[in-house]
Amino acid sequence: MTDTHHDVLIIGSGAAGLTAALALAQTRRVLVLAKGSLDSGSTAWAQGGIAAVLDQGDTFENHVRDTMIAGAGLNDRETVEFVIERAPAAIERLRELGVPFNREKMEDGELHLTREGGHSHRRIVHVNDATGWAVQAALLKAAEDNPNITLLPGQSCVDLITARNQRDYSGSGRIWGAYALDEESGKVVAHVARATVLAAGGAGRVYLFSTAPRGATGDGIAMAWRAGARVSNMEMTQFHPTCLYHLDVKNFLITEAVRGEGGRLRNPATGERYMARYDAERMELAPRDIVARANDDQIKRYGLDYVHLDISHQPPEFVKEHFPTIHEKLLGLGIDMTKEPIPVVPAQHYTCGGIKIGLDARTDLPGLWAAGECTESGLHGANRLASNSLLECFVFGEAAAKDILSCWDTLDDPPEIRAWDESRVTDSDEEVVIKQNWTEIRRFMWNYVGIVRTTKRLERAAHRIRLLREEVGDYYGHFRVTTDLIELRNLLDCADLIVKSALKREESRGLHFTLDYPETTPVAHDTVLVP
Ligand code: FAD
Ligand code: SIN
Repeated sequence: MTDTHHDVLIIGSGAAGLTAALALAQTRRVLVLAKGSLDSGSTAWAQGGIAAVLDQGDTFENHVRDTMIAGAGLNDRETVEFVIERAPAAIERLRELGVPFNREKMEDGELHLTREGGHSHRRIVHVNDATGWAVQAALLKAAEDNPNITLLPGQSCVDLITARNQRDYSGSGRIWGAYALDEESGKVVAHVARATVLAAGGAGRVYLFSTAPRGATGDGIAMAWRAGARVSNMEMTQFHPTCLYHLDVKNFLITEAVRGEGGRLRNPATGERYMARYDAERMELAPRDIVARANDDQIKRYGLDYVHLDISHQPPEFVKEHFPTIHEKLLGLGIDMTKEPIPVVPAQHYTCGGIKIGLDARTDLPGLWAAGECTESGLHGANRLASNSLLECFVFGEAAAKDILSCWDTLDDPPEIRAWDESRVTDSDEEVVIKQNWTEIRRFMWNYVGIVRTTKRLERAAHRIRLLREEVGDYYGHFRVTTDLIELRNLLDCADLIVKSALKREESRGLHFTLDYPETTPVAHDTVLVP
């Protein structure tokens, strides 16, 4: 693999990256990179569906209100309206690409809408309980068929190419693509482009328990931060209330739609349907932060390993029809959800904060756009409403492409870029350092920066990050990069951003709950970190 030149470089082949690629490829040549396989991101794992106002009795205003209530007022109303009003068109584009959304009874009936926590109406379109898989497959098929799109898996981007990497330094802060480790050859190549779109997903794996795939190590957020872009609201880590508890299978999500279709949470020791104590009105369909904290509280208060999610009161055929994937997976593990409750625990699920972008998906850095879970667009605020994130990917992937195309003639051709310099590094003889530090970060983030926080615990985490910085920095300076090392460096940067943001927020709001500041301040402010 040698250095490449394209019109546009897109880092990430999930919902955000491929949406941008398909829109750009109408006139431009696009290179899409993925770490590992092309379907390795969270998109393929999405279960519940995509939120959109499609029901006669529903309105945009309802969806906006639900989004802002879940987001505890930290959302940017203009962004919320921008996204929600574009949802029906985004669903229509997916239908045109062949996504086989479930319909009501007859084959040509209306789309079937399911319900999830925090939504006041049924408004989630879905493909059984494996929506993400169907969306990823349809987007990939369209991209593979497009002659203007080159898909390149097995490329772990190390850093963005900035003005510092120009042969003649310009100091402009301009981004010209990215350096990526070719996972097969072990060589780092420069992928140079006039415009770059970051769509590299979230940072879930910064936590010990997460529903996100192995590669969700916050690479996009960390790369943008190191290149000079602001990030915001990184303390807003979303924990999903119902991840399967199983000794061998650590990160299998039990979709919120199970609660949407009647699933109840119970304490396995007492049998109590305990949500009545935490949110008597909305019960199991309260926003995620409330249900996750309730589950966490029950587990800690009663010394439990898990709580129970029970949908066995529904007819077996109903359960199997709505949740075929989950039903089959659980049967393989010896759990029959049509007859017995499912043991569940909360786990990290979504990164609400990220690279700050505008409605045009522009970041602070000239030449760099961003979309999807690696961004903070203003949509989610302090807590993402269920099934609003795939939607954000479609809307901002499209917005990035539109903006790049509209300003194309003003974008300069890339200058000459320096090749990656490996002259001062050798192969590592101490891979154990990477494994040790990976585990250490994920464990202290889970224990000290989890669902319920205190200033003292956050400071303990900050102290450990300072110690690890020296060790990881030293390792990075001496050894050739590997994907594990790239991810470790990014995990540490993301952990640092989360802890710094959490220490700055002296209140409890949405997903950020601290015993030292239990009140919510009257005015909502973003936590913006400036490099
Ligand atoms: P991803 O789909 O995560 O893709 C990231 C891409 O970036 C990948 O191609 C990856 O290879 C690439 N990449 C990462 N780092 C690098 C690097 N260094 N170099 C090169 N490439 C890189 N949301 C909903 O709206 N509805 C749901 O039902 C839903 N269910 C979910 C279920 C689960 C189990 C999970 C984990 C999440 C769910 N979400 C859901 C959230 C949603 O799936 C994600 O927020 C969304 O798919 C993110 O899409 P993305 O395009 O931003 O990133
Ligand atoms: C789920 O299916 O519970 C996940 C939905 C989401 O993360 O939006």
